[in-house]
Amino acid sequence: MINRIKEIKKQLGDDLLILAHHYQRDEIVELADAVGDSLKLAQIAEENKKAKYIVFCGVHFMAETADILSEDYQRVFLPERTSGCPMADMADRKSAEKAWDIITKELGESIVPITYINSKAEVKAFCGVHDGTTVTSGNAEKVVKWGFSVKDKILFLPDQNLGKNTAAALGVDEKYMALYDQHTEKLTYVCKPEEVKMILWNGYCHVHHNITEEKVREARNENPDARIIVHPECKHEIVKMCDGSGSTTYLIKAVENSDKNTKWVIGTEYNLVQRLKEKFTDREIKILDEESICTNMNKTTLENLCETLEDILKGDYSKQITVDRQTAEEAVKALDTMLSLS
Ligand code: 13P
Ligand code: SF4
Repeated sequence: MINRIKEIKKQLGDDLLILAHHYQRDEIVELADAVGDSLKLAQIAEENKKAKYIVFCGVHFMAETADILSEDYQRVFLPERTSGCPMADMADRKSAEKAWDIITKELGESIVPITYINSKAEVKAFCGVHDGTTVTSGNAEKVVKWGFSVKDKILFLPDQNLGKNTAAALGVDEKYMALYDQHTEKLTYVCKPEEVKMILWNGYCHVHHNITEEKVREARNENPDARIIVHPECKHEIVKMCDGSGSTTYLIKAVENSDKNTKWVIGTEYNLVQRLKEKFTDREIKILDEESICTNMNKTTLENLCETLEDILKGDYSKQITVDRQTAEEAVKALDTMLSLS
């Protein structure tokens, strides 16, 4: 299958671009034309004007984003259509519009909506129409700073952890952060309404949210001279206990730029940590929680990648991901603001 994929890649040349997120399996990463975090992959999708076929080895929201940012003559494919992101599914446009009504009535109009790129296209569109933007873990501080420069408050969707970690890093005290529950449609906060700075949607990524304080304590006890670094989708309590946090690129660079014999404990998806372990055998690298596995990222296999490429050759576009024109036009406003800030 690897040979067949290579053959098709050669045959299609520049007409084909295979993108892979850092959480993909090794065999997929090896066959990709570019590997990166969500920000880098979105930038590549926007910049590449040659490829007629972009095969996105990642999850659904990433392929949607690539479709929005690419040209009309470019088609985006997801090797396994059911590779979703449970966190992205925790917010939709209807609940976001409802929240907007409730929150603006209660806290006033000076609010800008910012959605993590790990969200549905329709939520990005919601942010676009309300003059908001998107954000990734790779540019979170810059984008949130921008948010506070244009409005008094930010509505941050759907990841409460990235929102809280970023606001805290910018000096916002937790008492000025509110939590919005889309199921009960309730806004909870402890300060005065006018003092609220950050309104967090109550979504989360189970892969990172489930990492416990106990795991960090254990890692510290067992590896006292290791640096513990995590993805900012982890809870704020976890980030505070660790030595650093950042995007998948940040986590990779931290190890890459470190000296031989250094020790690392990393809290993020298994495939990425395992690859670092295999690449940097002169450092000691451990995963913080063995259970940090994103089943959706792991759904891309040699089989469905090969099948996608065979389908493309046959003109069968059943694995294509498309965003309707109106949603795309609204979402691109939000994405463009982010890209211009990055
Ligand atoms: P990055 O943008 O840091 O690559 O993270 C994407 C993601 O899905 C993390 O769970
Ligand atoms: Fe979504 Fe979490 Fe998987 Fe990233 S790791 S794709 S946020 S479920």
